[in-house]
Amino acid sequence: MLSFKRALVFAAFFLTVFLLLRQSHGTTSADESLGPPIPKKPADDDKSGKNLASYTSDESSLLRQNRVPARENLQDMHKMSLYDKLAYQYPYDVETKFPAYIWQTWKWTPANKEFDFREQEASWTEQHPGFIHEVITDQVAIHLIRLLYAAVPEVLEAYDALPEPVLKADYFRYLILLARGGIYSDIDTFAIKSASEWIPDKVPKESLGLVIGIEADPDRPDWMEWYSRRIQFCQWTIQSKPGHPVLRDIVSRITHETLKRKREGLFVSKEKSVVEFTGPAIWTDVIFDYFNDNRYFDMSHSKGNISYLNFTGIESPKKVGDVVVLPITSFSPGVGQMGAKTVDDPMAFVKHDFEGTWKPESERHIGETN
Ligand SMILES: *[C@@H]1O[C@H](CO)[C@@H](O)[C@H](O)[C@H]1NC(C)=O
Ligand SMILES: *[C@@H]1O[C@H](CO)[C@@H](O)[C@H](O)[C@H]1NC(C)=O
Repeated sequence: MLSFKRALVFAAFFLTVFLLLRQSHGTTSADESLGPPIPKKPADDDKSGKNLASYTSDESSLLRQNRVPARENLQDMHKMSLYDKLAYQYPYDVETKFPAYIWQTWKWTPANKEFDFREQEASWTEQHPGFIHEVITDQVAIHLIRLLYAAVPEVLEAYDALPEPVLKADYFRYLILLARGGIYSDIDTFAIKSASEWIPDKVPKESLGLVIGIEADPDRPDWMEWYSRRIQFCQWTIQSKPGHPVLRDIVSRITHETLKRKREGLFVSKEKSVVEFTGPAIWTDVIFDYFNDNRYFDMSHSKGNISYLNFTGIESPKKVGDVVVLPITSFSPGVGQMGAKTVDDPMAFVKHDFEGTWKPESERHIGETN
């Protein structure tokens, strides 16, 4: 028979074994929750280095070898300004060809029966045989941006934060052109002429990186009632080479501003319009700042800044540095004002219908609330 004393000793023994087992089991499961011994993404997480302590010394030196260089790279990237990171990711080479891409975005793909821009969409394909032509939906756009900007988390955060489709659509066009280049055009836009005819043959394409059009050139005293800028460049159709500094600058500015507005919790209001935030006003400002930036242009011999005066009333393409500005007729034919000629004019290249989500400026200003 078991004496009371022996029973106590057994009980104490079992209790100790039980507690020891539980403790070591607890440690094991905690280790498991830290993930597999070799992290899949060596560079992220574990800033404290705590994970390393739980491995044997051989394993941890192996891990250190694996992760230290990666982390140093990452820190170098961290030290860079957003602008420099974008330049590093997508360098600009003016001598490359304009890539044969056409990028468009819409709620539906052309295969969907709700898609009602068949004619417009087809005009781009017809005018550009051999080009890769993509109509990208919001769902696909997210994945594409995550892929292209995996190394620039600020961009991913900003893209996610933008609360309205019009803002995402504006941002997307700059992002895709910065990363891949080619032509971006709004879905409600007809291609009247091929992009190969936009630029006069005498202008060498290796000296160009960006082709833009004029949205508005309101030469009247009350222009401010109608437009944000005296000359406004349009952003419904843009052609660029990847990495162009103008795109780098606008992506950098919109990203900073988005993250700021996210912190403030207010994205769009009467004072903070879409036009100024992601639309033609900021687009126009970025382009003029580029023209007047002595990092890119030698200003020592110029008599004055480049301003709307250099583009008002132009009737043929004007090249400034590596940018070509097309006359108002090219991207805004048939508007019946501001000197724009008809869609039959030889300089008429695309016809924008203003039927998409993204509306003309006058409509954009109305009812802009958060
Ligand atoms: C722009 O216009 C100014 C005068 O307004 C002139 O001095 C300058 O040379 C022009 N620049 C270009 C590139 O046309
Ligand atoms: C020219 O442009 C630069 C940069 O935008 C600006 O700082 C400067 O004040 C301008 N000068 C004139 C005369 O407008």
